[in-house]
Amino acid sequence: MKKEQIENRTDRLIAGLSGMWEDEQDRARIAKTIQALDTRYDLEQKLAREPGVAEIIAQMTGRLARSYARLADLQGKRILDIACGSNTSKLPASLHLKTPLGELSVGGSKGYTALFEPWFCRILFELGATPVGVDFGDLEEEAFTHYKVDLGKTGAMDFLPEASFDAIQDSRLFGSPEFTAEFPKESDRLDVAHEIVKQEQRLLKPGGIIIHSDAAAW
Ligand SMILES: C[S@@+](CC[C@H](N)C(=O)[O-])C[C@H]1O[C@@H](n2cnc3c(N)ncnc32)[C@H](O)[C@@H]1O
Repeated sequence: MKKEQIENRTDRLIAGLSGMWEDEQDRARIAKTIQALDTRYDLEQKLAREPGVAEIIAQMTGRLARSYARLADLQGKRILDIACGSNTSKLPASLHLKTPLGELSVGGSKGYTALFEPWFCRILFELGATPVGVDFGDLEEEAFTHYKVDLGKTGAMDFLPEASFDAIQDSRLFGSPEFTAEFPKESDRLDVAHEIVKQEQRLLKPGGIIIHSDAAAW
């Protein structure tokens, strides 16, 4: 597709993401996925209001491209996304993102942001995986399996069976305004990070992978 033929933001995003895969079937799969996000969640309008949504989607897609050789490998994979985002999640005071599409700094607003809707689980769902999202924000209308959980409580994920996930991600819980309000002390945030790492080890199947973990990096 030539640059002048790329009419809208969704198409521009698809063109940017296509470069992550060499195989035509993978490029077609990711294009179909992003188009589905537009149909189901008004992606085009959200990109117009908050261009940073493109960077978030590129970041999540980049993590998949690094973790799986082919998008078809995701079929049927049970993947847990801890603090998956929600339809009520808020923007932190400041956020800097480095993604395969570039860099972006946002922040300042105190209210809801489309940036932290559950894009990773939605993408996985469209790609034929079996995502499971946990978060304490509103996920009621979402098609993927989700649980309302306060991750600040020790044992909050004990109800999920041991060795039941092929892959896990935890991303950006720790800098979120909701979490820092609940845990202003760094030592308390560290305790939660340790609990999440412990749960990730318990929940992964043998041979399962960590797609991304802020908790482990702390
Ligand atoms: C910044 S968003 C991250 C969304 C997504 N994981 C990402 O990386 O873009 C942080 C999420 O953590 C959730 N959260 C914050 N504190 C929480 C807690 N104690 N229990 C469950 N979810 C929490 C918020 O509802 C929000 O959806």
